Amino acid sequence: MIVPGSASQEVAAALARELDEPLAAVEYDWFADGETLVRVPDTDDRAVVVASTVSDAAHVELLQLQDAARQRAEEVLTVLPYMGYGRQDDAFEPGQPVSARAMARAISTGTDRVLTVNPHEEAVTDFFDVPCSSVDAAGRLAEPLPELSDPLFLSPDAGAVDLAETVRDAYGGGEVDYFEKIRHSDTDVEIQPSDAETAGRDIVLVDDIVATGSTMSTAIEQLSDPARVFVTCVHPMLAANARTKLGTAGVERVYGTDTIERAVSAVSVAPAIASAVGELP
Ligand code: R5P
Repeated sequence: MIVPGSASQEVAAALARELDEPLAAVEYDWFADGETLVRVPDTDDRAVVVASTVSDAAHVELLQLQDAARQRAEEVLTVLPYMGYGRQDDAFEPGQPVSARAMARAISTGTDRVLTVNPHEEAVTDFFDVPCSSVDAAGRLAEPLPELSDPLFLSPDAGAVDLAETVRDAYGGGEVDYFEKIRHSDTDVEIQPSDAETAGRDIVLVDDIVATGSTMSTAIEQLSDPARVFVTCVHPMLAANARTKLGTAGVERVYGTDTIERAVSAVSVAPAIASAVGELP
């Protein structure tokens, strides 16, 4: 049985269809002090909890879903289409936590196994105390792209160039390059231009996540006279005014997956998750 988190109802329903498994109708209560209480209906032997941890509340909800499911199912598999706090995968300054590790440990307590999609760094999967593997869904981002003219697939930093290559390969042709990125703070990002020629070409920017949109909009400023600019990402967080920022920067279209359910979620990661579930031992 597929047990959906409230922020992952579309992807959970798509996964239920892919796996031909029933979808649990989770019920919710809210208390006056702000606490929530979930109720998971009777499950099969295996419960697959599907929940993107897009907020602190979503983390709490996931722990409750796992605990409720575990009381009835013999096996609990947790699917994190998007794993929140994944980018804090190190203590970058003295006194900081490794938040990704703290979250992973908490999530591990309620499950037998974890699957996640395109984590910011693959090493995050090692933070879990139960077996965790990742699914690469970046190739699907090529599907909604229109026919492109002399395309250049660009990642805003060297770390995402593999994703740009995956999207280029899935599209079927084009050049790949990346910018040099220096992050001064959460919103102050310096991007140094790539060597590739951009004039008159269709540019597809590729990243794992667009959060505030600062990285992408700064990258777009470096493009010299492009034809059209498309933004693609696996996780379209698009916090606050990020979508508007991209629009005013001149982006033609933004395409993401449904790891985070947004208006730009043009493709589903459910088939990739279903294949990975099918291959589990
Ligand atoms: C960082 O290395 C990530 O790959 C993204 O580039 C970054 O997290 C995007 O964040 P924002 O949209 O806030 O610039």
